[in-house]
Amino acid sequence: MAMVCLSDFEVYAKKYLPKTTWDFFAAGADDGTTRDDNILAYKRIRFRPRVLRDVSVMDIRTKLLGTEISFPVGIAPTGFHQLACPDGEKSTARAAKAMNICYIASTYSTSSLEEISAAAPSGFQWFQLYIHRNRMVSKKLVQQAEALGFQGLVLTADLPYTGKRRDDVRNGFRLPPHMSLKNLEGAFEVCKMMRIPHSLLDPSINWNDIHWLQSLTHLPIIVKGILTKEDAELAVRHGAQGIIVSNHGGRQLDGGPATIDALVEVVEAVQGRVEVYLDGGIRKGSDVLKALALGAKCVFIGRPALWGLAYKGEEGLQDVLRILRDEFRLSMALTG
Ligand code: FNR
Repeated sequence: MAMVCLSDFEVYAKKYLPKTTWDFFAAGADDGTTRDDNILAYKRIRFRPRVLRDVSVMDIRTKLLGTEISFPVGIAPTGFHQLACPDGEKSTARAAKAMNICYIASTYSTSSLEEISAAAPSGFQWFQLYIHRNRMVSKKLVQQAEALGFQGLVLTADLPYTGKRRDDVRNGFRLPPHMSLKNLEGAFEVCKMMRIPHSLLDPSINWNDIHWLQSLTHLPIIVKGILTKEDAELAVRHGAQGIIVSNHGGRQLDGGPATIDALVEVVEAVQGRVEVYLDGGIRKGSDVLKALALGAKCVFIGRPALWGLAYKGEEGLQDVLRILRDEFRLSMALTG
């Protein structure tokens, strides 16, 4: 089968992954309205193309907090990459490095931070943090990430509790016995039982915790999960250096806005004081261009990266990224 666009990888992943894994990757909260709207919202947006503008030379590079990337797409943090391919996050790290883009490694990785960092030495990596009730666990992870050379700390703000994903409940989803949450090994008994320790996350997290994180690390802090101008303003005021407009791929609150619709008010509120990124529903190069045209500096992909890993590990993820890059470049040319 020729892999021409990202939905080809989706079809492949759905066909070949075990059903419980596919359901976990695909899940949205409740009815999945927000998850689906992330994608539909792009179809409602139209370009105003310009012509005769000499597009023979185009530069698609950009910078994230000063670090250059080869095009404005990165890998959003998603857990459990070993469910998609045997080398898990190590493959993800290698693919991101080969494509010269940013990879945000999840707290819930099935490879440790050391393994991820060693798989792609000097790769551009940020670490995504869920704050645990046991603050020592989070503190240790943050400091370990900094020591290993991760260049940013992404605080996920939209998961005080886990959204209700019906298929995961029905399937009794849990990690297979040979996989574990490597970053949390030893920290919780519950990890040994291969259950997902969501109940160990701290639901009391609030804006003051950004100051707590700043006391632990010199890394820039990027807040992920902002959808309103009010929270964008608070993020800036509390010293965040970046914002990811995100609804967790529609896996948390069902009924919130599509991220591309929320982007505009966030960009307006921020007024260039910090960088604004977006994730959710990016499936084509033209989606990337729409997000950039509405003010995002870069976008991140969640599920499409997992489909690429499921197809052919590191190579499959590179295929996904190359297709997105080439489609993005073409959209730029055709919109002038
Ligand atoms: C996620 N997401 C996520 N976010 C996060 O901050 N930490 C995490 O560990 C995870 N884990 C995770 C697992 C899976 C299977 C999915 C699909 C998503 C959310 C992720 O970072 C991102 O916000 C969305 O995936 C973006 O939407 P798309 O690109 O999947 O449509």
